[in-house]
Amino acid sequence: MLAIIGGSGWSDTTLFKPQARREFLSRYGNCSAPVQFGHLQRGNRQSDELCYLPRHGAGHRLPPHKINYRANVDALAQAGASSVIALNAVGVCHTRWLPGELVLPDQVIDYSWGREHSFVDALEDFSAHIDFTEPLQSEWRARLLAAAARAGTTLHEGGTYACMQGPRFETAAEVRKLRRDGCDLVGMTLMPEASLCRERGIDYLSICLIVNPAAGVGDASLSLPGIRAALERATEAVRQLLAEALLLPG
Ligand code: HPA
Repeated sequence: MLAIIGGSGWSDTTLFKPQARREFLSRYGNCSAPVQFGHLQRGNRQSDELCYLPRHGAGHRLPPHKINYRANVDALAQAGASSVIALNAVGVCHTRWLPGELVLPDQVIDYSWGREHSFVDALEDFSAHIDFTEPLQSEWRARLLAAAARAGTTLHEGGTYACMQGPRFETAAEVRKLRRDGCDLVGMTLMPEASLCRERGIDYLSICLIVNPAAGVGDASLSLPGIRAALERATEAVRQLLAEALLLPG
């Protein structure tokens, strides 16, 4: 089953009206919210069954560094998820892409710290060392790109996501360093979610929603109303993209 992990601005019901909610007990602690099950629906068309987890919890109360990523991935594995499409709000480190647009990054640099980042607690054999050369490889890449072309949605392909600890935004010097490191996007939530999914054998990719130029990029300073407006535009673009990709023929 496909699981969608919703990010900033995605509430309980942004994706669909759930038909069922289930709490999963995890040995890693509390998951952000009960896992929801349902179908995308438009008119007489609907998708296969999906599950959905709002990463920041009901009422959006969990900041990125307080999310229990292990419990979330464990709950999705128990729910039967074999693939995850994660939605992550980001700043963009250059001026080639614009707020409101979507990106499918293909690489990650993890600058976060102090997060419970692995299910491995004993080195039994080399299986602890997962291959993470291509962190966002997924059968969904090609399907989402084809859907974006059909729907006329801007979906930039490729790019490196920098995962920062947050919750503060970066300094201008930090963003200059990220650019020198080859990063295109900066966010706070893709790691350790992506590597935990790889440890569990769950396919994972991220659709990044650009909500602001990163600190010091371009002329504008960070503005919350600007971020909210771009998030709304990008959220609508994601909803259209997912409908195009997931709805079965009517
Ligand atoms: N930096 C880090 N995380 C973010 C940003 C940003 O500029 N925008 C949205 N999430």
